[in-house]
Amino acid sequence: MTPDLLEEGARRAEAHARQEAQGRTESGGRAAGFSRLARPGEVDVTHGRILYLEDVSVSFDGFKAINQLSLDIAPGELRCVIGPNGAGKTTMMDIITGKTRPDQGTVFFGSTIDLLRHNEPEIAQLGIGRKFQKPTVFEQLSVFENLELALKTHKGVASSLFFRLDSAQSDRLAEILHTIHLEASVARMAGNLSHGQKQWLEIGMLLMQDPKLLLLDEPVAGMTDEETARTAELFLKLKGQHSLMVVEHDMSFIKTISDIVTVLCDGSVLAQGTLDQVQADERVIEVYLGR
Ligand SMILES: Nc1ncnc2c1ncn2[C@@H]1O[C@H](COP(=O)(O)OP(=O)(O)OP(=O)(O)O)[C@@H](O)[C@H]1O
Ligand SMILES: [Mg+2]
Repeated sequence: MTPDLLEEGARRAEAHARQEAQGRTESGGRAAGFSRLARPGEVDVTHGRILYLEDVSVSFDGFKAINQLSLDIAPGELRCVIGPNGAGKTTMMDIITGKTRPDQGTVFFGSTIDLLRHNEPEIAQLGIGRKFQKPTVFEQLSVFENLELALKTHKGVASSLFFRLDSAQSDRLAEILHTIHLEASVARMAGNLSHGQKQWLEIGMLLMQDPKLLLLDEPVAGMTDEETARTAELFLKLKGQHSLMVVEHDMSFIKTISDIVTVLCDGSVLAQGTLDQVQADERVIEVYLGR
């Protein structure tokens, strides 16, 4: 799919949203158009791509951290991204999530949503969830309260005092607790969980927001072998229902979960293929695996 086609798609979607908003004047014009588009279920993946980056570059003080990067991901795919320290993996996630603006390039979510026109909170609302390396759960709250809060925050509930989970939300919370292996710890304070359990809780908090695309930056760093194995199971379960981009240095973890592996180096794609293919690539061995 060409950038022209993507831009045309975005123009059409916006025109359509404007038309809708005109017919519903009480709902607030252009803003209403965007919120209609923003429902995660409406990401247009008819072209077979949930994420599309083309020729993206960003420099920090003259240093090109991302250098003409092009990459795309299919809906439901679990894409692994590996590469040496400083390759630009985290910076790429910063660009996708609106934390960093690229100097040039195209970044699309589905074929109609131009992510460069949205800020960080809007991108989260659009259905892109991000997990940073360090767990960021509320240590003083219980596991249940953390999950409930993730839903409230996402829905923009102004007064949490009057917020009650409806039955569908309660069911989802129970299902997510099961998925993240924290059913038995639902009433525990998050601060008392192990490092791995905190990571799972944070993933659960993202799942409460039902993201289409999940970006996970070094999710198993600091985990025990058993926690790492359970995280691999978790990701394999999420695959298909969500699209995932996982950055990791742990090669045995990558081996367990990977289909296609993208190798980043110096801000662009050095190699891509199955893990066996990229591990056999001389350039990859030289810059990364052979260290
Ligand atoms: N905000 C910033 N200002 C200046 N330089 C930055 C900024 N963000 C990233 N960089 C630089 O860009 C390069 C890419 O960094 P990035 O954190 O994306 O690498 P990475 O692939 O995630 O590495 P690691 O595997 O160590 O996490 C590094 O040289 C880093 O120092
Ligand atoms: Mg990083």
